[in-house]
Amino acid sequence: MTVPTIASLPTPAAVVDLDVMEANLARMAGYTARHGLRLRPHIKTHKSPRLAAEQLRLGAVGLTVATLREAVVMGSVGGELLLAYPPVGDWRLDALMRLARDTAVSVALDSAEALAGLGAAAARAGVRITVLVEFDAGMRRCGVSTPAGAVALARRIAAHPGLEFGGLLFYPGHIRDAVPEQTGALRVLAADVARYIEALRAADLAPAVVSGGSTPTAYASHEVPGVTEIRPGTYIFNDRTTALMGACAWEDCAFTVLATVISTAVPGAAVIDAGSKALFREEVRGRGTGFGALLDRPAIPVAGLSEEHGILDLSGSDWRPRIGERVRVVPNHVCVAVNLHREIAGVRGDAIVGRFPVAARHWDPGPTR
Ligand SMILES: Cc1ncc(COP(=O)(O)O)c(C=O)c1O
Repeated sequence: MTVPTIASLPTPAAVVDLDVMEANLARMAGYTARHGLRLRPHIKTHKSPRLAAEQLRLGAVGLTVATLREAVVMGSVGGELLLAYPPVGDWRLDALMRLARDTAVSVALDSAEALAGLGAAAARAGVRITVLVEFDAGMRRCGVSTPAGAVALARRIAAHPGLEFGGLLFYPGHIRDAVPEQTGALRVLAADVARYIEALRAADLAPAVVSGGSTPTAYASHEVPGVTEIRPGTYIFNDRTTALMGACAWEDCAFTVLATVISTAVPGAAVIDAGSKALFREEVRGRGTGFGALLDRPAIPVAGLSEEHGILDLSGSDWRPRIGERVRVVPNHVCVAVNLHREIAGVRGDAIVGRFPVAARHWDPGPTR
């Protein structure tokens, strides 16, 4: 039987190099094991149950999700789930309670309102949920903003019969400096984490779990005392932004969008059949231009995007593609690019050896159990 190759894929197509991906997974699993950290990867990057199962097989203690769709789909994979997103709204709570009947679920939140809704739903459903208090470590997105606020919320959780206080959660997504320049921000983060832990200890609510971590800071997580687990997501595939930050090598980018050159009529440019609906229009903040770059020729960016057209800027290269030639584009932000595709083809070299449905894309809780 002949093995299909990527030449047989209609384009644009999502492709993952499994050798590169497995090395990314093994590197992070090895790092967390060496430093006694628990790994709870965020599956928002791949949204694929089969890849989540692979993360668990390689030593992850559980999975992190943001949407209820992700939670429901990943509930079938096994392992503990952390919903790192306030479960506000009946449809979220209903789906969460159905899931919590036979899956160990913990939830991070930052308000008395979200807590009251969750507590009431848990009491109605007769399930027990572990709750982490999220604090804002500097991203200014979610999270209480003072240790006193964290203590107040933790007290309410501990007093609720259907809920259990699990500890603290923060997301250091504001640290996007080049890796060698993160030292100052990490020091501030370590001091903040220490303040929150100390305040909870003083209130007799010592956090069993302190959940942190992002891909750009992942390998410095052991420098933040008190952190017990990390939740990197992007690291499974990496992307152009991660590489430009120095948080991975270009060769560590496992995910590409396979595209076909469809026009070379305009001098100095080539047009591919992957536009904003295949790559996503996200700029690289501060460190470069364009919306992606060619895997084999990183100096060639996707300089412009229409919905179905990507415009390669050839000015930095002598390479002149033929019409019909295929290229592989590393997107700026892999998580949002993956979410545009129904399936990812897993390749070793040019051979397609697996298919990974992106089963948890979009938001609706979808299949109920
Ligand atoms: C709450 C939370 N945890 C973890 C992650 C994973 O971070 P990264 O994408 O840097 O791997 C994210 C990413 O958005 C997140 O929002």
